[in-house]
Amino acid sequence: MGRDEKMARTGDFALFVASRFIEPVERAFSEAFVTRFAESRDPIAELREAAGDFAGIAFSLDVPMRRPVIESLPASVRVLATYSVGTDHIDLEAARERGLAVFNTPGVLADSVAENAIFLMLGAARRATEAIELLRQRAWHGWHPGQLVGRQMSGSTLGILGMGDIGRRIAARARSFGMQIHYCNRRPLPPELAQGAEYHPSIETLVAEVDFLVLACPATDATRGIVNADLLARARPELVLVNIARGDLVVDRALIDALQSGRIQAAGLDVFAGEPAVHPDYFDLKNVFMLPHVGSATVEARLGMGRILIDAIQHWRRGEPVTNRVC
Ligand code: 8YV
Repeated sequence: MGRDEKMARTGDFALFVASRFIEPVERAFSEAFVTRFAESRDPIAELREAAGDFAGIAFSLDVPMRRPVIESLPASVRVLATYSVGTDHIDLEAARERGLAVFNTPGVLADSVAENAIFLMLGAARRATEAIELLRQRAWHGWHPGQLVGRQMSGSTLGILGMGDIGRRIAARARSFGMQIHYCNRRPLPPELAQGAEYHPSIETLVAEVDFLVLACPATDATRGIVNADLLARARPELVLVNIARGDLVVDRALIDALQSGRIQAAGLDVFAGEPAVHPDYFDLKNVFMLPHVGSATVEARLGMGRILIDAIQHWRRGEPVTNRVC
């Protein structure tokens, strides 16, 4: 065990907090560790210039850990604690090469993200964007039978791409809406996890069989751009597409064309390629219901995300196994 690792495990664990978190989480970090909160818009430069041996960095999607950043971190850094379940903003290979321990926040946010998926399914299927605009523009002049007629979830089929913890929690909630569940995963789930959901080895067969499709898988080389024109050409015209995972899974041009042409019915989006930038053409579409990446934006999830990172660092320091260790 090198000097820095020994220091990080035995000495005062100094944590550099590179992103801002809700106050109770920041307080919890300060109570658990010697902490310094970034003050500048370039927290990594601030860390490099800072005196003191920071053993860990707590950060989120707003502080991407690409290879050059990881290679430039002070030698004292042994731990990367990301305030997210997703790790596509971290070069894990570079972290492994430096022998860094990387912790994330699985499980504690899954209920909130699953609820948000249901919210987006309902919002898109029930034309929430048009309904909210109609009222906010003071343009509602009374009820009529054809007003904002949408689709119900009950009795329809839901396809889930990525039947991990979040995907399965979406399925559980959708079943209570009376939906039949189909899914696509790298491997079929054991029956006790599939709970009767129908497995599709490829998203191509899945998309042709469902009324709703939720993207709940990580952004990887295999999944980036997976929702493209070819795939959408296989969809049912009444398809409602929901993305709660990563914007990179979707080819924006293809989805926008499909929504504009009526090739598919609607979309509910919580994440966007290059966010917070959003493709401008989405804003002109009435059949897209958009949220600004609020999947885990609940007190319950955000407190849990802080707690699970603190626990992970303390277990790691004691040389104990850490369940939410990515590498
Ligand atoms: C977070 C997420 O809100 O966990 C993830 O991967 O995308 C969201 O839960 C986001 O990471 C910001 O912290």
